[in-house]
Amino acid sequence: MRVGPENYIVVRAPARISPERVVGSTMLRNSMTRSAAVPSHVPPECVVDVDLYRMPGAEQDLHFPWKQLQDSSPRGLVWTPHNGGHWIVTRGRDIARIYADHENFSSHITIVPRQWGERFPLRPTTLDPPEHRPFRRRLNAALSPAVVRSAQPRIRKLAIEAIERIRMRGRCEFVSEFAEQLPLGVFLHLADLPVDGATGLPGYAEDPIRADGSTTDVPIMDRFAGYLRPHVIERQRHPGDDLISRLVAGAMDDRELTEDEAVEISTAVLTGGLDTIVSSLGLMMAFLARNPAHRRRLIAEPATIRPAVAEMLRRFPIMTKARLVTRDQDIEGVTVKAGEMIVLPPLHGLDDHEFDDPLTVDFDRPPAPNSTFGNGVHRCPGALLSQAELEITLDEWLARIPEFEIDPVRPPTMKGGVLGALLTLELRWEPMAAHSPRSTA
Ligand code: HEM
Repeated sequence: MRVGPENYIVVRAPARISPERVVGSTMLRNSMTRSAAVPSHVPPECVVDVDLYRMPGAEQDLHFPWKQLQDSSPRGLVWTPHNGGHWIVTRGRDIARIYADHENFSSHITIVPRQWGERFPLRPTTLDPPEHRPFRRRLNAALSPAVVRSAQPRIRKLAIEAIERIRMRGRCEFVSEFAEQLPLGVFLHLADLPVDGATGLPGYAEDPIRADGSTTDVPIMDRFAGYLRPHVIERQRHPGDDLISRLVAGAMDDRELTEDEAVEISTAVLTGGLDTIVSSLGLMMAFLARNPAHRRRLIAEPATIRPAVAEMLRRFPIMTKARLVTRDQDIEGVTVKAGEMIVLPPLHGLDDHEFDDPLTVDFDRPPAPNSTFGNGVHRCPGALLSQAELEITLDEWLARIPEFEIDPVRPPTMKGGVLGALLTLELRWEPMAAHSPRSTA
């Protein structure tokens, strides 16, 4: 049950550029707001020409340019002048270590360029301990194993309804017709909110920032927050037994949450659980569409779905977060200074120093840490819910549409960036009147 790097599309390797070229480059002068001169402590051999929002080839395979950077960076640490100038670590052990080390690497800014990160603070994702702790306790309680268990029948129902709407058609654009609907439906159920009130929320993978660097009239986070605010105020006043009430009601240590804190923590949960799930669902289905042997094994052995989902999450990580360096320190023999930004790409699970044959999807691979959900105090509190949504989708989809493929004339499209997004996935199959689902709604 293996698939190799032949599934990749080859793109040009990230070019190394000299500091002189960086400072004088027309391309960089054209985007001065996001580019920087190379500081004197950055060794010239560390400088690369990598713009994480414009990785060559990411439209076809968002992981490939990152993997090429990892393979072409023996030191495991590079510096790029794009997006304000920042470091990038490429080795899995450094990615996991930096995620977990909030004392040396702060979450006060988690997006580059830093001006964008500063413009969109969101508690608790941009807090460090100790301020982060009381918020985190609420997140853990609101997304506990018991909450996820109780949500499973509804997740299954939503998945079955969405599949049944398209099954007899024999084709679908998976992202818009299935993946976008599931996580929003799950959130609305958990939060006990009406389905029709959520129309008008920002769409999947909508860019928070225009190509010229300006923001839209109402920034995306404000649109989510604006939708949630009245519900949050209501739940603070009259708490019920739902996700938002668990996040916002009652005292936190010795005080109530302010209204803004309550809106922000709710917004973090809503936004954290939408595009991430859409993209992960799409990447998994694209892989299974291309690999019938893997698909058929899941149909023959449904108990393999759980480890298979974990393995595909390792193989198809999506988040590229950043940290603000708090102290001068040495990484891989290079001085990294306080106040600089360091980017953690989706490369831990793809590192051959950590995993044998990491590009191969092997459902029998022993589980191992891989940073797909981050690491340390900010590790994703929605990991369990994510796994449930992905597992239930596979279970119900494969029971109803066991054989499917990607439309050969309409290949998937992707996008790099903070969230690696699978934008479109055209699937087709032979419609079957009858099916034998293993479970019922
Ligand atoms: C496959 C799906 C998902 C992936 C790959 C993912 C990935 C991540 C990662 C890498 C982080 C850490 C960010 C950092 O340290 O800067 C994170 C944090 C977070 N995620 Fe997820 N996530 C997923 C699904 C979800 C879901 C379903 C929810 C909620 C329902 C959620 C809510 C959050 C929140 C609130 C945080 C911030 C936690 C904190 O700051 O303590 N995520 N996620």
